[in-house]
Amino acid sequence: MTPTPRDRPRLPFSRRRHPLPWEAQRSTWRDAKPGLIAAALKTAGTHPTGNWYVLGSSRALRSDAPLGCTLGDTEVIAWRGADGVLHAGPGSCPHLGAPLRESPVRCGEVVCRWHGLALNGQPFAGWEPYPAYDDGLLLWVRLDDLGGEPPRARPLLPERPRAHEGVAAVVVADGACEPEDVVANRLDPWHGAWFHPHSFVDLTVEDATDTAFTVRVSFRVTRRLVVPVRAVFTAPGPRTVVMRITDGEGMGSVVETHATPLGPDERGRPKTRVIEAVVARSQRRGFALARRAAPLLRPLMSAAAARLWRDDLAYAERRYALRATGRFPG
Ligand code: FES
Ligand SMILES: [Fe+2]
Repeated sequence: MTPTPRDRPRLPFSRRRHPLPWEAQRSTWRDAKPGLIAAALKTAGTHPTGNWYVLGSSRALRSDAPLGCTLGDTEVIAWRGADGVLHAGPGSCPHLGAPLRESPVRCGEVVCRWHGLALNGQPFAGWEPYPAYDDGLLLWVRLDDLGGEPPRARPLLPERPRAHEGVAAVVVADGACEPEDVVANRLDPWHGAWFHPHSFVDLTVEDATDTAFTVRVSFRVTRRLVVPVRAVFTAPGPRTVVMRITDGEGMGSVVETHATPLGPDERGRPKTRVIEAVVARSQRRGFALARRAAPLLRPLMSAAAARLWRDDLAYAERRYALRATGRFPG
């Protein structure tokens, strides 16, 4: 249906009259105190997780193949049963140890490629399932041995716009670092306009404590056109940072960044998977149209998040490399 003029969104952009060159913006290093970032990281580490780990995007899990990865030293697969329910369990076949991540799913069962043993998610021949949860956006698995915390029946989910109010996209990227490096990067909002000038300008941290950072920032559309917002960053767990837009265009939109520890890479460095869910919301009339265009918007949102994550993973990897060699200045 063609939008009528009434339906068309009023553009949310502001015009920057005198855009400053990158090097002329106010430096933020005095405010970005290493001790404050470390305190926020420490506070994040005190929150319980119930041993739940994000595995990936709910939408990306196909019906004919499992999702497989190694968390810490635990090989895990997850797949959907014939009824769509998420199952998870050890990624090694109980017969002779074939990697189940390479096995297909047929009629809701993982069928081992080596000799055809089929698992339907119930305990079988020593194979015991792990608790799994699909929140509609992200897939979770509970690994009590890895987490070592008192288990919880469900993961603690940040509040999100309801499915019919938002457009969601999930981006996944791996880095050679630990989850705390990913979280520390997110708990340093001061780097935004310096390190990502392609995406952010005019960034001011209005308030910073060890539990929340309030940031005024503009998302950059072109050199002169920007979308100003206020956003609050919190870390509700040791592996999660949530950015919530509290004022301006997209108020109520949420970016959830989850860091899941994977096994070491080929060079023995720890690997972390970053799974970032963007749930964009807008009060604008035109957003109803945007929701209908969601299949088109999702790749664009993912591309923008992936670009930021290339930068941010470089930051996290650098932080890890310095920590691992005792050179981290913080
Ligand atoms: S190793 Fe899986 S069926 Fe034999
Ligand atoms: Fe960043």
